[in-house]
Amino acid sequence: MCGIVGYIGHRNAVDVILKGLKRLEYRGYDSAGVAISNGKLTIQKCKGKVSQLEKLIKANYPHGTMGIGHTRWATHGEPNDVNAHPHQAGDYKFAIVHNGIIENYDALKKELIQKGHFFEGETDTEVLAHLIQEVKKVGLTDFETAVQMALNQVDGTYGLAILNLDEPDKLIVARKGSPLLLGIGDNEVFVASDASPIIEYTKKVVYLDDDEMAIITPDGYQVKTISNIELSKEVHELEMNIEQIEKGGFPHFMLKEIHEQAQTISDCMRGRLMVDENRIVLGGISDVLDRIVNAKRLVIAACGTSWHAGMVGEYMFEHMAKLPVEVEYASEFRYRDPLIGPDDVLLVISQSGETADTLAALREAKAKGALVIGICNVVGSTIARETDAGVYTHAGPEIGVASTKAFTAQVTVLAMMAILLGQKRGTLTKECSRDIIKELNTIPAKVAQILEKLDDVDTISRLFAYASNFLYLGRSYNFPVALEGALKLKEISYIHAEGYPAAEMKHGPIALIDEHMPVVVIAVNDHTNEKMISNIEEVRARKGRLIAITNEDNHDVRRLAEFSITVPQTHDSLSPLLTVIPLQLLSYQIAVYRKCNVDQPRNLAKSVTVE
Ligand code: M6R
Repeated sequence: MCGIVGYIGHRNAVDVILKGLKRLEYRGYDSAGVAISNGKLTIQKCKGKVSQLEKLIKANYPHGTMGIGHTRWATHGEPNDVNAHPHQAGDYKFAIVHNGIIENYDALKKELIQKGHFFEGETDTEVLAHLIQEVKKVGLTDFETAVQMALNQVDGTYGLAILNLDEPDKLIVARKGSPLLLGIGDNEVFVASDASPIIEYTKKVVYLDDDEMAIITPDGYQVKTISNIELSKEVHELEMNIEQIEKGGFPHFMLKEIHEQAQTISDCMRGRLMVDENRIVLGGISDVLDRIVNAKRLVIAACGTSWHAGMVGEYMFEHMAKLPVEVEYASEFRYRDPLIGPDDVLLVISQSGETADTLAALREAKAKGALVIGICNVVGSTIARETDAGVYTHAGPEIGVASTKAFTAQVTVLAMMAILLGQKRGTLTKECSRDIIKELNTIPAKVAQILEKLDDVDTISRLFAYASNFLYLGRSYNFPVALEGALKLKEISYIHAEGYPAAEMKHGPIALIDEHMPVVVIAVNDHTNEKMISNIEEVRARKGRLIAITNEDNHDVRRLAEFSITVPQTHDSLSPLLTVIPLQLLSYQIAVYRKCNVDQPRNLAKSVTVE
């Protein structure tokens, strides 16, 4: 989704901003722009990639040590040069970039038009620019107060940065619902919607919270509420480093992140999985563990891949901890007037920690008295900060829009939580928990083993790169993996794909199967194997092109399938950590053969900050 970079200091602002916007490209966008202040305001913006903006800027290079930049993911108004940010209002004295949505923009726009304002484009942000100007004119206030007064009139969400020509040493930024942080350097301050643009300059950051603004000068910053109450904010130290946000020799971030998984799963378990002691330590939830152990019900809310991880968690918690679980699409949760209260625990799962739907579910459950815990990857993200307690996945920055290492890290945390709860609730015997803990400890090596032999995946990808549809089938723990495999394929290769519980196939999708339909079956040596074999026979009888994810010694499945990709044997509950890897690779390789933009698929955003 949209990205913001701002700079004030001693460097050439346009260089810092363009580099920063490139670091934010992974978030997904369709146009970009900058505004530089150096006695005059120079604004350059265009539809398309940051590289196009760069070309535009080369022709008319604005020098200056203060500026703001933006990548826009269109919500109101098509992606074009006019709707690209920064925006201005009538007197062209200030420029604003904005992430989020001004929900009452239409009513405000009508009022402003009646007052004589003229709009160049269709965005809600331009309405905010005019509103600030109108408030300043009518209220005869200083600029900062005008911004505060305008923000108090808008409904919706914003992360924004404003340059004002009349105050050449001041940058105003504000946040409500859309993340924004300040990077504190020596006589320079950076602003960004996430840490990736600033990590090469400073590790000191201040996270703005909702309804807060900051007044920034080269020498420092002052944070206050938009109601003008001054605040003292904690300065945090960023844990990420620059290598983590570069490709490190891989052609795409997605491939790099797939290959990182042996390491990221291991990082996720470090200090938490005490194999010799048959013990799990999850410090982030230790204070609330009793409440979780005694909960009547666990509700899991998440979106996309994180929702699939949640579904794997459902099987784990019910099996190991005998705890009733419901998995909800976060986006639907609050519209159902959900029955959730102090006896329940809501577990939200989010890689970015900024997904608006998940955040809304979290707030709804909190308001109703439930304990809210989280599994997040991005340290310091809004969801991580608003949950009562939680566990970080420690997978490092995930840049590819298609989530890969975040999924396996989330499932790893869920496995550890389920074992811990099983032990505490007395539903998992010592022997069982010892077996699972031991097995979990072997997963990184098994993932590495899968990643060593990629020939089968390559052959299959080449053969089916131009298929129009794919069907993915799985049962039990591998049903969510079927959903995840289908999601991975459709989002980066644009091939229509559906995931189904294998038994559901005969209730409808079987009608689709003919000699042109690739059917991916996840059929490992688990308690559903015999039933999976029956489903495989049903696909064969209709001449479907069977691709099996199975185990080396599963001769039945390997004999029946046209193609097989094998993964090492593991405990049933942990098999998603292995079976998902070939599916990630399959979708990656197919997308490459189809010459798709793997890391930035069309229309998608990495962090979905609108509802
Ligand atoms: O950051 P989150 O985990 O909250 O994001 C949720 C989904 O938007 C995300 O998983 C999305 O489905 C991915 N593009 C899937 O690869």
